[in-house]
Amino acid sequence: MSSSKVWYITGASKGIGLSLVQQLLARGHRVAATSRHESALKEAVAHDNFLALQADLTNEESIGNSIEATIERFGRIDVVVNNAGYGTGGALEELTSTAIQENFDINLFAVIKVIRQALPYLRQQHAGHIINISSIAGFAPGIGWSIYSAAKFAVSGLSEALAHELTPLGIHITNVAPGAFRTNFLQPDSIVFTSREIDDYQHVRAAHQKMHALNGNQAGDPEKVADALLQLVGHPHPPVNLFLGTDAYNRAATKIDQLTQQMEEWKDVSLSTDFATKSSPLM
Ligand SMILES: NC(=O)c1ccc[n+]([C@@H]2O[C@H](COP(=O)([O-])OP(=O)(O)OC[C@H]3O[C@@H](n4cnc5c(N)ncnc54)[C@H](OP(=O)(O)O)[C@@H]3O)[C@@H](O)[C@H]2O)c1
Repeated sequence: MSSSKVWYITGASKGIGLSLVQQLLARGHRVAATSRHESALKEAVAHDNFLALQADLTNEESIGNSIEATIERFGRIDVVVNNAGYGTGGALEELTSTAIQENFDINLFAVIKVIRQALPYLRQQHAGHIINISSIAGFAPGIGWSIYSAAKFAVSGLSEALAHELTPLGIHITNVAPGAFRTNFLQPDSIVFTSREIDDYQHVRAAHQKMHALNGNQAGDPEKVADALLQLVGHPHPPVNLFLGTDAYNRAATKIDQLTQQMEEWKDVSLSTDFATKSSPLM
């Protein structure tokens, strides 16, 4: 790969996606990016090396068309960034089935669709890097985000499992888990909260209020994400997991410590279920 790469990014009309597009173009990369609002994207970014794509991320054909258009324009794709995503807040039983399905459609199934559509090109190139923007909630979840966390955990699991499939083909994959970044993420046009509140979940309400108070004061600077991703894609052996932000790093470290401690405490029980004879390796 030359140092100027072709990037394909989902969900780029605002936040991390938009910042990435602008910074990558400024550094001489070629960028194709999707949005539900192509006009907003075109208004925000005018550059000869930019391709604005209207895409419905719930629709595999629409995603496939956007990837084909990228190949037609730039001839290849070096980096795929699955960035589009949003939070759904509420205790599990307060959420409607539709709200749950819609969250998974964007946060997980769109990621799967994009990867499936991009892989034939990356395999042909025998090169490429897939970056899935997950969340610290997909590793060390907070209170009141069970469905968002579940979808992001799935993205993390998918990324780790795919690393086994794709590394031998010369394709890298990294699960990027940001902490709180100062984007539109907590604005009403992005985040979705349940309208059905059950009195027992006062602890969930309290956690959401704390989150609202954070809006505009998040420690994470979206303008610094491009640099981090450029370091990733420029590295010969990029990690499968990368946490972004001090909060994400610390939450992950605490979770790992707790998990290690729990594993040790319960080690005897864990090891007690084998046959007395030799065990065989699992999947
Ligand atoms: N900011 C944070 O604190 C934070 C923390 C952890 C993880 N993340 C993750 O980082 C990624 C980027 O988020 P952000 O912080 O940049 O938030 P943002 O400013 O709200 O931008 C989110 C982007 O995702 C797309 N998107 C949002 N809801 C969508 C929907 N229902 N259908 C299709 N596309 C949708 C939008 O694309 P269009 O409007 O252009 O279609 C938008 O550009 C997300 O995956 C998010 O989960 C963010």
